[in-house]
Amino acid sequence: MSDFDLRASPQLPCQGTSARVWVISDIQQSEPADALATLSAAVDDMLATDQKLDAVWCLGDALRGPDEAALEQVADLFIRQLARLNLPVCYLLGNHDVDLKRARDIDHHPLWERTRAEPNWHTMERLDDFFFARRIGGCLAVFMGDHAHPGGDWFTTHGGVSGRIPERYPHDQASYTRLSQAMAGFAGPVMIASHYALPGGQKPSGLMGRLLPLPANVKLVMHGHAHIGDLVWNKDNPWQRNNPVSGQPLRQFNVSALESVRSPGSHSAVLKISPAGPLSLRIRCHQEHKWLDTFPLAEA
Ligand SMILES: [Fe+2]
Repeated sequence: MSDFDLRASPQLPCQGTSARVWVISDIQQSEPADALATLSAAVDDMLATDQKLDAVWCLGDALRGPDEAALEQVADLFIRQLARLNLPVCYLLGNHDVDLKRARDIDHHPLWERTRAEPNWHTMERLDDFFFARRIGGCLAVFMGDHAHPGGDWFTTHGGVSGRIPERYPHDQASYTRLSQAMAGFAGPVMIASHYALPGGQKPSGLMGRLLPLPANVKLVMHGHAHIGDLVWNKDNPWQRNNPVSGQPLRQFNVSALESVRSPGSHSAVLKISPAGPLSLRIRCHQEHKWLDTFPLAEA
């Protein structure tokens, strides 16, 4: 028996029988002016599309760099820009969201801490939780990003555990197996939204690999981190958005990146969900103001 009861996960409201979610990832600008330009242009473009969205999911790397004053400004503008959409926002951390810890060993997480006081924001309850979950439109979304010991002993990054005392990381293989079993126990389709890919995808995470094999009711994996078109850090098939999950008849989709420095264009996705499961994933470029691709997801 699993000790994670995902059936009791909080519900995200949706307007109709199907839900639409704007999925963004990897904004990662260290200069507040650049972060504002990137994010405000994307929000402007989404408002112009009149998509009737129900939620925003941010798959990490909202921040970048170890400059505490700049991080506070970016965290503040992040919340103000997304507030223009007046939607619930689910936020998980990526490796750049823990840059302050990685570079300076400072146990301060500017955006995550601010979201705790924001009623429209959803994130992990505790900094050391390795997932959080929400129900939406009859489905379950499981969010998985980087996490850290509140006292600073350890933190996760790039699919591993770092820090002063990494051996104190509490989420062993059995923890991830229990989460996988809990997903199987949810009476409906499950989607995984993560910062890192699972094995089989681009720049995969060893910790995420602990979830495998995933149960059959997991119908979709989406991730960030491996910026599309980044020829330096994502050299293997850099334009491939749609990749397999190792050993399973399941696909994972790279939705990054909103930044346009490492990744040509400013990309995000709109996910359409029905109670029967995910229906489609459309890729948007906010610089070109056009839809680049549509992936049908419904099972025959
Ligand atoms: Fe990342």
